[in-house]
Amino acid sequence: MQVPRWVVVTGVFIAGLFAFFIFFRSLWDVARFAMGQERTFAIIKPDAVAARSTGKIIDRIEQEGFLIKAMKKIDLQKDQAEKFYGVHKDKEFFSDLVAFMTSGPVIVMVLEKVNAVKAWRDLMGSTDPHKAAEGTLRQLFGTSISQNAVHGSDSLQNAEQEISFFFPEL
Ligand code: CMP
Repeated sequence: MQVPRWVVVTGVFIAGLFAFFIFFRSLWDVARFAMGQERTFAIIKPDAVAARSTGKIIDRIEQEGFLIKAMKKIDLQKDQAEKFYGVHKDKEFFSDLVAFMTSGPVIVMVLEKVNAVKAWRDLMGSTDPHKAAEGTLRQLFGTSISQNAVHGSDSLQNAEQEISFFFPEL
C-alpha cells in the first residue's frame, strides 16, 4: 500500500520543526554558557518554611537577579536526606542534620544567574548565622548553625549533581 503524499509531507514537516526546536535550544544553552550564566541548587530549609519566611526569601532571590528555573515544595524522606548529605555521614552532627531536614517541608529550587554558585553563596552568608554578614539570608532568617534557613551548592559540579538529584527531568 502506498503512503499518501500528504502523510509523508506532514511527517517531514513535524520532524523538521522538532529538529529546528532542538537545534535552537542547544544553541541557546551554548550562548548562555558563553555569557557566564550558571545554574545552582538551593533549599529553603524546614526552619524558614515553618517560620513562614518562604515568601521573603523568594522575593530577595528575585530582587538579587536570580531566575527561578524550577521550584517545588517537598517532604524530604530519611533515605533521601541521608543520600543528599552523604558527604557529612561521618560528622557527629549527621543524624541531627538528617532529623532536622526531614522535620518539615522544604522548598527546593534551581536558580540561574551569571556566576550563580558564588552569587547564591554570597547571598546566603556564612553557615553559622551568628557569623554571617549583615543582610545575608542566614543572618536574617537563620537561628543556629544547624537551623540556618537555606542551603546552596558549593561548586558548579555539585550544583549539577544536586539539581539532578531533585530535578532529574532538567
Ligand atoms: P548546609 O549548607 O545545608 O550543608 C551542610 C549542613 O550541615 C550545613 O548547612 C549546616 O546546617 C550543617 N552543619 C554544618 N556544621 C554543623 C555543625 N557543626 N553542627 C550542626 N550542623 C552543622
